[in-house]
Amino acid sequence: MFFKKNRPSVEENILSKIDKNKLPAHIAIIMDGNGRWAKKKNMPRTMGHRAGVETIREIVKACSKLGIKYLTLYAFSTENWKRPSDEVSVLMNLLVEYLRGEVNELHKNNVVVRAIGDIGGLPQICQDELKRAYEKTKNNSGLKLNLALNYGGRDEIKKAVKAIVSDVSEGKVAIGDIDEKLISSYLYTSDMPDPDLIIRPSGEYRISNFLLWQIAYAELWFSDVYWPDFKPDNLYQAIVDFQNRDRRFGGIK
Ligand code: FPP
Repeated sequence: MFFKKNRPSVEENILSKIDKNKLPAHIAIIMDGNGRWAKKKNMPRTMGHRAGVETIREIVKACSKLGIKYLTLYAFSTENWKRPSDEVSVLMNLLVEYLRGEVNELHKNNVVVRAIGDIGGLPQICQDELKRAYEKTKNNSGLKLNLALNYGGRDEIKKAVKAIVSDVSEGKVAIGDIDEKLISSYLYTSDMPDPDLIIRPSGEYRISNFLLWQIAYAELWFSDVYWPDFKPDNLYQAIVDFQNRDRRFGGIK
């Protein structure tokens, strides 16, 4: 006999295709399309960002349950300051609201909350909440959630170059010691693996100054879905596709 309720959902179906032994260690997501999602629904852009926070909650939970080690979310770029000041304020408030409302749940789920970017350039209240979230979760052993805030790939590389030059001039580093590993160690991501998989929803095919150094061999995955509509099954599909890619890192098989 056929019992409909026993059939696996679309989500379970895709999930069952994921090889848990071949998970990407580090997934990075360019959360795009909040504004267009809101426009499509005749809502103010800021409602799109609010809906985008719901997606963050679901995707973080899905990554954590799956056993992903690092998830980096591009939440605010060094270029996003060009947006109208009320939109910037809403984004900063949403960050504070998210951290305050979610930190206990994240802690319960063994997640570490971290930030990458020029954090000193954020409003003090954001810095304080980020610090509080990190202090509470820093000893957890599960998913490392990196919020990229006031982050720009070129800005990060510029800062690394300045720091290396300064260390060379103080005799702490010899020019001959400068190799790719040393450069990586001067980046915000110094203690994490490079992303294996970059996801960009919303139908745009750009990197937008995200993790420029680190994505040298990342697999890119694009979707037309706007970020507020991005669901765990979209994430699972990205991982399944990733697992079917042939990664050669410039070599041959
Ligand atoms: C891109 O959509 C999205 C952003 C610039 C901000 C992403 C921020 C959030 C999802 C919420 C706040 C963050 C946290 C960590 C709580 P867009 O506005 O560029 O969309 P559009 O291209 O359709 O205009």
